[in-house]
Amino acid sequence: MSKLSIRGGKPLNGQVFVSGAKNAVLPLLAATIMMDGHCELKNVPYLMDVITMIRMLKALGLHAEYQKSNTVRVSNLKKVRHIAPYELVTAMRASFFVAGPLLAKTGFAKVPLPGGCSIGSRPIDIHLKGFTQMGATYTIEHGFVDLRAKKLKGGRVYLDFPSVGATENVMMAACLGEGETLLENAAQEPEIVDLGNFLNAAGGKISGHGTSTIRIQGVTSLQGCAHDVIPDRVEAGTLMIAGAITHGDLTVSNMAVDDVKPLIAKMQEAGILVDCLNDREVRIRTTGSFNGVDIETQPHPGFPTDMQAQIMALLTVAKGSSVVKETIFENRYMHAPELLRMGANIKVDNQYAFVHGVPFLSGAEVKITDLRAGAALILAGLAAQGESMVYGLKHLRRGYDNLPQKLRDVGADISDYPETFSL
Ligand code: EPZ
Repeated sequence: MSKLSIRGGKPLNGQVFVSGAKNAVLPLLAATIMMDGHCELKNVPYLMDVITMIRMLKALGLHAEYQKSNTVRVSNLKKVRHIAPYELVTAMRASFFVAGPLLAKTGFAKVPLPGGCSIGSRPIDIHLKGFTQMGATYTIEHGFVDLRAKKLKGGRVYLDFPSVGATENVMMAACLGEGETLLENAAQEPEIVDLGNFLNAAGGKISGHGTSTIRIQGVTSLQGCAHDVIPDRVEAGTLMIAGAITHGDLTVSNMAVDDVKPLIAKMQEAGILVDCLNDREVRIRTTGSFNGVDIETQPHPGFPTDMQAQIMALLTVAKGSSVVKETIFENRYMHAPELLRMGANIKVDNQYAFVHGVPFLSGAEVKITDLRAGAALILAGLAAQGESMVYGLKHLRRGYDNLPQKLRDVGADISDYPETFSL
């Protein structure tokens, strides 16, 4: 199993640059299915999940490839196939984002039910209900969702929960629907704003994206165009916490400060020095210690669930106690037992985790269970006394573009050990 060795206690100093957002580029790539001609996405991070989505587009008949320096070019020149391959959807549940575009473009979408994952069952009922409210029908057989719609009809679509994926899937589908769709109780994440802007640049007529009510006027076609992917707010937050947990002096650049306001507020509440130098960079320092704070994850603009594991790592070495409440996913504390192995003091009780700060963590061998848990264990390793071995890097490579190197460049003592096969 591939692993990282981290020798902790080194303050991170200097400047680090954030890559494009994984959770923006995946729906953007799915949206290219609906666009005629060529698309060029820039500021694309180099991630396993992006490669999986590119393979998905190729399997559907599009031409897609990474070009130089973080650019992906997609050409949609012939009739797309409407059946998404099983092995790609199970490799990455975000592949389900192709359902809305396929349904809108071809009138059909046959997509395997995305598996759950380690953080939860991850159902798709809200997606399906949204499609039916636009006139689609579906059957579920042999592990596939088989969606059909002669022509999607505009109308009122109410999401029972502001699901990010369901908002994106319905917003994409409605772009080529007949008439106007009013999408209510929509998710408001920055990635949805980015997707709406991309669809509008291609000829879509969307307004209100980024609020809880999105209005989509159906059009007859969308034309491929160029688009810059927004910065990854979760990578930015992870790097900000790396600067704080190592008591360094770290400037995080190429980010969108507005997209990480909840984290900035919580870090400042903890007594961490967060200077917003401009709308694209922050400087992180500490006074030598920071306090525990309470965290409750919420849909945007609340505190993001994707930063819960990382801030828990920070809170394990805060002065005092913190109460963390995870309200979005039902099983997103798998980093806790691994942090306990490093000497943290955490008690998990259903949605709650009670964190009591300890003076220091000690290096240990730990295993990554999911993407953001992996980031949390690396952050803990950076702060711990002694050496930590972090196993299971495949999870990390799904969502972080070269994180170990970015940390090394600002002073972290990290060694990569690629997968070896030996008897
Ligand atoms: C997106 O997942 C992100 N992934 C997740 O990031 C993120 O944690 C999540 O939004 C919440 O912000 C991508 O954008 C690729 P949801 P998504 O639909 O769309 C329930 C990461 O680490 N739900 O907003 O799948 C669901 O079970 C990943 O980068 C239903 O019940 O999230 C969950 O409890 C992890 N029925 C809650 O809603 C549905 O039909 C939020 O899910 C859909 C969702």
